[in-house]
This record gives sequence, structure tokens and C-alpha cells, in this order.
Amino acid sequence: MLELQNLCMQFENAKHATLKNINLQIPEGSFTCIVGASGCGKSTLLNLIAGLTLPSSGSILLDGQPISGPGRDRVMMFQESALFPWLTVLENVCFGMKINNVPKAKQLEIAGHYLDMVHLSRFRDYRVHELSGGMKQRAALARALCMDSKILLMDEPFSALDKQTTNLLREELAQIWQQTKKTIILITHSVEEAVFFADRVLFLSEETANIAGEYVIDLPRPRHIESPEFIRYRQDILYQVRNEVEKIEHAEEMAG
Ligand SMILES: Nc1ncnc2c1ncn2[C@@H]1O[C@H](COP(=O)(O)OP(=O)(O)O)[C@@H](O)[C@H]1O
Ligand SMILES: [Mg+2]
Repeated sequence: MLELQNLCMQFENAKHATLKNINLQIPEGSFTCIVGASGCGKSTLLNLIAGLTLPSSGSILLDGQPISGPGRDRVMMFQESALFPWLTVLENVCFGMKINNVPKAKQLEIAGHYLDMVHLSRFRDYRVHELSGGMKQRAALARALCMDSKILLMDEPFSALDKQTTNLLREELAQIWQQTKKTIILITHSVEEAVFFADRVLFLSEETANIAGEYVIDLPRPRHIESPEFIRYRQDILYQVRNEVEKIEHAEEMAG
């Protein structure tokens, strides 16, 4: 279990605290989505959990132990795939394992397993510039999964992709989560995406610099964004967060 205790983040030159007294418990194996308007502190929160940034005050505990920096128990995936352009897909996927001195044969076995899972086996020898945006994110996901960390942190991983690719990748990730039973914390500005994935959606408010809404999504999986129950959840959340995320709501309605 991951536990945030009175977590505060005040950047040096900022007038207001970005995060104020966040208290949160994230159970092992859960899928948590954090939504909020642009600039509300979502990435800041994820970077703190990743240990890439240190909080102004408060603490983060993983299974009771304080987090004081990056660790192998947490792996991060970004909006841009952050793959190494001079390496092939397979070399990229193996990179972290190589650093961790995993024996070569084992690397290939593990990489093969996860490349299959993200449907990239046929492209293992491609270089990054030969991949589409969706394939890059698949490769980044395979690389993250190979690290065998307990927690997968995802910062708007599909935001730069077109709608069709996004839908496909969402379905794949939902299945991968069910297969791997990892704890996933995914940041998104899309309420639709949050309802699609999450056990629990947390709304991070810019106004209060804290979690201002918590919604348990009790829908069977696989979930269908067109189903009346799904639409009800989405509308409900959008209605409750409307004051802060009108822009998002509008954008989502435009997108259909
Ligand atoms: N390293 C930093 N130094 C100063 N201010 C920062 C830094 N990182 C983020 N911020 C500020 O914190 C706020 C939240 O940013 P961020 O977490 O990136 O928001 P989000 O991911 O929700 O769009 C913004 O006002 C941003 O300018
Ligand atoms: Mg962000």
C-alpha cells in the first residue's frame, strides 16, 4: 500500500502552494486515476510519488517505508515515450534490465513476453523513428513492464495520440492491468479516460490544492464508453467538477 501523509509542495517562486496537505491511501493492485485541470499539480503529485521531486513537507510511505528518491518499486511512463532514438525497440525494452544486470537470456525472455503483450513482437528490430506514436507508447509500456516494479506511474500516456489509437491502447492497458495486477496511478485530463480505467477517480483541485472529489467506479470490465452506466458516471463527475474544468468538459463534448 502507498500512503501519502500531509503531503505539501510549495515551489520556490510560486505565490501559492501547488499541493496542500494531501492525505491518500492507494491499495496494492488498484487502478487510480487522477484528473484535474491543466496546471493543477497532477504531474507534480506523480513526480513526488516517483521520488523525482522531494516534497516541501509531509511524507510518502510505500508498505510503511518512506520514499526518499526513485526506486525499482516504481516506474514512470510519460506522455512522450522517452525512448532512446539510437536503439531498436528490443534494445529500448531491454535497457533497464541491462542496467540492472539481468542476464542476457533472461532479458530476451522477459522482453519477448512483454513485447507480445503490447503487440510489438514483429517490430522488435525497428528503430524509434520508424514507429508511429502509438507504437512508441507501446514500446515504452513494454519497457516499463519489464522492470517488474510494483507500481506503474503514468503521466497522460495517451494525450499525444489520435482518438482511434488512444481507444485501442486504452483497451490494451486495461487488459494488461488485469493480467499483471500492478498498482497503476494514471494521470489524465480526460474524465472519460479516468472512468474507463479506474477503481477510483480522484479529482485534484487547483483551487484547494488538494483532492476535492473521490469517485468509486463500480462498473464491470471490460468497460464500454457508450454504455448508459458509463455515460452516467462520466456526466456525474463532469457535473461535480464543472467549476474548475469547464474547458475540459467542453473539449470532451466536442470530441464526442
Ligand atoms: N519545477 C517547478 N518549479 C516551479 N513551479 C513548478 C515546477 N513544476 C511545476 N510547477 C508549477 O506547479 C503547478 C502545477 O504544475 P503541474 O504539476 O505540471 O500541473 P499539471 O500536470 O496538472 O498540468 C503549475 O503552476 C506549475 O507552473
Ligand atoms: Mg502534467
